Amino acid sequence: MTRPTIIVHMSMSINGNITGPYGSVVEGEALKQAYESKHEYFDSKAMILGRKTIEEAFTATEMPELPSHPQIYSREEDYIADSDYNHYMVSLDPSGKAAWTSNYTTFRERPEMHVVEVVSETVSDAYLEHLRNLGISYIFGGENHQLDLKLVLEKLYRYFNLETVVLAGGGSINWSFFEQGLVDEVSVVIVPAVDDHYGRPQLFNNSHEDSDIKPQGFKIKHLEQLDGDIIWIHYSK
Ligand SMILES: NC(=O)c1ccc[n+]([C@@H]2O[C@H](COP(=O)([O-])OP(=O)(O)OC[C@H]3O[C@@H](n4cnc5c(N)ncnc54)[C@H](OP(=O)(O)O)[C@@H]3O)[C@@H](O)[C@H]2O)c1
Repeated sequence: MTRPTIIVHMSMSINGNITGPYGSVVEGEALKQAYESKHEYFDSKAMILGRKTIEEAFTATEMPELPSHPQIYSREEDYIADSDYNHYMVSLDPSGKAAWTSNYTTFRERPEMHVVEVVSETVSDAYLEHLRNLGISYIFGGENHQLDLKLVLEKLYRYFNLETVVLAGGGSINWSFFEQGLVDEVSVVIVPAVDDHYGRPQLFNNSHEDSDIKPQGFKIKHLEQLDGDIIWIHYSK
């Protein structure tokens, strides 16, 4: 079965921080411009984000009231809402925590993106009905919390015809894709700063002990110095 190419595209400090104030060392809009211009280069119609990043940047802070008497929805059937959008925000949210209030979202000057929730079979019927009421698509990515990300990618290809998808963090979701052998390319916009990393997720953030993961090598496809002493490195296999 075919799946889209996965490109991890992130900004980070020299020491691999992806959160915190490292971007403040660069003047004006240089970081945003660097990140956005390289995102455009990939010509991807979809971005995948982890639940924590989604909640930090895209959803309401509190869950809207969920239907009190939902129907029972089959876990065998994904739900693809009718919509005219052709760009997608894919939210990896196994338990159904993201407090969406609309079936599309925006980011900077990019086209509006239809929301696609990736959930596990343990999600509540009330949450599924909430998504349906809003016209948000959802797909099942596995029986439980540890989603089968290959299956998720195959479904994204099948339903939305996606050939290239940008995986844009955070660190734990990036790690999950790496762990399952699904990272094809890595694009990093490196800010010339070293910053405190205590307690912060890194570019690929494995937060549990796991001894069996082998390193994977990449080759440089592009290497550019951009405004503000920012470096862009694009690796592929
Ligand atoms: N610098 C950049 O370019 C950039 C880009 C994006 C984000 N960020 C930053 O990254 C930070 C968040 O990163 P993070 O690593 O803490 O969180 P994250 O990757 O955004 O989200 C982690 C959550 O995703 C779900 N998840 C992760 N792996 C999974 C798997 N294999 N199967 C199913 N669900 C999985 C889990 O949700 P549940 O807990 O609900 O199970 C997990 O807690 C934010 O502060 C954000 O600002 C930076």
